[in-house]
Amino acid sequence: MSNLISGVKKSFGELFSCDPAVVVRAPGRVNLIGEHTDYNDGFVIPVAIDRFIAMAASKSEGEEVELHSLDYTSSVRFPLSHIEYDHQNQWSNYFKGVAYLLRQEGYKVGGCRVVLKGDIPQGAGLSSSAALEVASALTLKSLFALPLADKELIRLCQRAENEFVGVRCGIMDQFVSCLARQGSALFLDCRELSYRNIPFSDEFRVMICNTMVRRELANSQYNIRRGECEEGVRILAQKLPGIKALRDVSLEDFLQHQHLLPPVVAKRCRHVIRENQRVLEGTEMLKKGDMLTFGRLMHLSHYSLKEDYEVSCAELDCMVELAESTEGVVGARMTGAGFGGCTVNIVQRDKAEEAQRSISSRYKKEMEVEPEIYLSSPAEGALEELFH
Ligand code: GLA
Repeated sequence: MSNLISGVKKSFGELFSCDPAVVVRAPGRVNLIGEHTDYNDGFVIPVAIDRFIAMAASKSEGEEVELHSLDYTSSVRFPLSHIEYDHQNQWSNYFKGVAYLLRQEGYKVGGCRVVLKGDIPQGAGLSSSAALEVASALTLKSLFALPLADKELIRLCQRAENEFVGVRCGIMDQFVSCLARQGSALFLDCRELSYRNIPFSDEFRVMICNTMVRRELANSQYNIRRGECEEGVRILAQKLPGIKALRDVSLEDFLQHQHLLPPVVAKRCRHVIRENQRVLEGTEMLKKGDMLTFGRLMHLSHYSLKEDYEVSCAELDCMVELAESTEGVVGARMTGAGFGGCTVNIVQRDKAEEAQRSISSRYKKEMEVEPEIYLSSPAEGALEELFH
């Protein structure tokens, strides 16, 4: 049993002198390719990572929720009839948002006690928030036997983040945290919500390099980028009636009409349209186990995010350059929203530890900060696991 699972179980026992009725865990994620495409109805290929949020919970009398975070050594209580955003205990808003939306949708959620703990680095772009939402939804679904289908649960978690927490994220993070399979990457069509698990060659590992730059600009710039994509669709739709999102625009059509767009909007659209193509090509490469070509697509993705989408930063660029000059690394790029956080790398299994050491010491020398570098294997999504 993982340390996190036994940790929350034990603490629950100490706090409430009984065993929890439900124990769940939800993983963080890293996106291999397909960045800033999910909210354009496009394609992505993330993997779940072996870092999780775990929760142990039981029902209680009445209509009150009691949350205990072991990471923050802090507790929050709130009545279900009056759920408000908590500015002091930000960590509690993900659970609150999920409970709020479930109630709004008419699901019968009652009082409960919850203990939680996680090991996903926060503010690093590894989706600790999505994992927290998914763990919350799964906990409430299990405790109150809610008739909540998988995709409905995923959508509800995304809405909790959009509507209660106030971040306009796409669907990728919550989806992969729920439905990833161990040892596989997940190809997702973000419009249809159809997906496929693609086995990830076990000769390679996923290496995540944290630049240690916190993503301060991420939220405001994220919303600006979304607006620019929407503007692109509005203008292009005058010539291409029927398009609903950049997903519907072919490269040929874009090249023909790009002169109608303000230059910055044209750059944003070009990134998204080409990135979607890279994901489709990348899916075939992953299926064939052609990791060298997949790595080449990652390289193109990074430079498109840097030049056209303009969401990279000096530290991310430095980390990618260092990785690309390291033996055994076949692909490297920034991952997540950008403006800091992590890069994702694919590295040959037998060279992974040496690559980790070498990148770490060279980054420290250049940036005067010690990076955190994690080796991970594609982990299991939350919906396949329940620990009673
Ligand atoms: C964040 C969002 C995702 C996605 C990425 C960019 O991680 O939560 O929905 O948009 O940025 O690809």
